[in-house]
Amino acid sequence: MDKKIAILQDKINQAHLGGGQLRIDSQHKKGKLTARERIHFLMDEGSFEEIGMFVTHRSTDFGMETEKYLGDGVVTGYGTINGRLTYVFSQDFTVFGGSLSETHAEKICKLMDMAMKNGAPLIGLNDSGGARIQEGVVSLGGYADIFYKNVQASGVIPQLSAIMGPCAGGAVYSPAITDFILMVENTSYMFVTGPNVVKTVTHEEVTSEELGGANTHATKSGVTHFACTNEIEAINHVKKLLSFMPQNCEELAEHLPYEPGDESRTVLNTFMPQNASQPYDIRDIIAEVTDEESFLEVHKSFAENIVVGFARLAGRSIGVVANQPAYLAGVLDSNSSTKAARFVRFCDCFNIPLLVFEDVPGFLPGTDQEWNGIIANGAKLLYAFSEATVPRITVITRKAYGGAYDVMNSKHIGADLNFAWPSAEIAVMGAKGAAEIIFKREINSANDPQEKWLEKEKLYSDIFANPYRAAERGFIDEVIEPAQTRAKLIRAFKMLENKVVNNPRKKHGNIPL
Ligand code: COA
Repeated sequence: MDKKIAILQDKINQAHLGGGQLRIDSQHKKGKLTARERIHFLMDEGSFEEIGMFVTHRSTDFGMETEKYLGDGVVTGYGTINGRLTYVFSQDFTVFGGSLSETHAEKICKLMDMAMKNGAPLIGLNDSGGARIQEGVVSLGGYADIFYKNVQASGVIPQLSAIMGPCAGGAVYSPAITDFILMVENTSYMFVTGPNVVKTVTHEEVTSEELGGANTHATKSGVTHFACTNEIEAINHVKKLLSFMPQNCEELAEHLPYEPGDESRTVLNTFMPQNASQPYDIRDIIAEVTDEESFLEVHKSFAENIVVGFARLAGRSIGVVANQPAYLAGVLDSNSSTKAARFVRFCDCFNIPLLVFEDVPGFLPGTDQEWNGIIANGAKLLYAFSEATVPRITVITRKAYGGAYDVMNSKHIGADLNFAWPSAEIAVMGAKGAAEIIFKREINSANDPQEKWLEKEKLYSDIFANPYRAAERGFIDEVIEPAQTRAKLIRAFKMLENKVVNNPRKKHGNIPL
């Protein structure tokens, strides 16, 4: 038996070496961790159990039968993260560049099936040269098997992808379907076709980093939700993100213990600038209202006119969606609508209540927006809020103008409670523009048109630049003192914790994509 155990140990050691020490050294030289080191930092110490350590590929073309590595370029298994069951696959770049063979794909699919059956999150640590070139179509089939399972698992279990090396060609579509993508600056990139193909086809000269690096996708395309400075930061973000999520769509996120205290935040009573067109950072309000240091912003550098992220309120996990007056006056445009819509849908999939802060002057005008489909994109956000059945509360801090008022989680589209600060202005548009349109003739025929305009602006403003017209109709449930926002929200979310709403039975809706 000792001999047999020694053989086993020998195989384990061999598997741990992946593509060999030289390639491990080369991985380290690039500033990257190995597949196993990443798992070590991600999972609770000693909790990881590997599955499929001795799997090898079945390829015989190009002399491949003589080059086999135990595990075939991906480490798969389960363990715990902060005590909670989690499944992880980690691609090993030291074995054929982490490329995806038929068996490599089978290992990932097997893990996905387990994660779905047992209702626990799946984390993918991606570092791969793409389809295993020596295997041809078989590896493409493997990708499609993974994509299909990603879609089946979508909305059932949280799926997170950390990109820690190359992710090119078809490989990008598995992360793209998952709920959140994290990328590491300077060592990871994602693109459908690399710089060489781009140069041949479009004659553009671009580096990998410019084309598909972490910062590009965090700011320009919005493909990644987080750009992390190094792998450890990315791993820590994965853990933090998971802490806000339940294990699966049937469960609620963990409710942290909370000691009730003085929930009033008097600083909020003097927070709002005197001038209604003066910007402020909505993050300051979020930080004041939610539990201390609990806010984790998602998609921070993309479409900054809307802020989304997870936070805790009296220990409860919530999703926050907030117009950002500090950027483009918080206007809704195509990118911000799409960004917020996807976040709202994630929260709704996983029973995370939604808190909306609203200060929106409307939709961004212009040919750029119209030609890029602001109608369809704005509709995404409207659709996402309307179909969400989780508890939903809106706080209107200042402007709630036009169609954007309807879209931003208004009562009319199913919000449970809408609060407004006394500084709220709920109207079709700002008083200046409104006066110009409806009193055009009077203004133009006046002796002093400018003075008339100001007079009419004041008239419109007196009637609509406040929350009381909306409160009279019940569109606002309560006008609240800003200092009481946190206390009111804690009570309101507690009141809504057993909310049950069933949308009409259907196969699935048809969100405007
Ligand atoms: N299939 C099989 N082997 C692959 C591979 C793939 N798709 N991608 C990389 N490899 C192997 C390389 O042959 C090399 O093997 P070796 O260690 O025995 O020399 C090893 O992985 C590392 O690749 P290398 O090119 O030396 O690493 P790099 O960091 O310089 O470049 C890539 C990484 C991903 C940019 C480069 O390997 C590449 O362009 N790969 C092909 C990408 C592709 O077109 N994939 C198919 C489309 S999905």
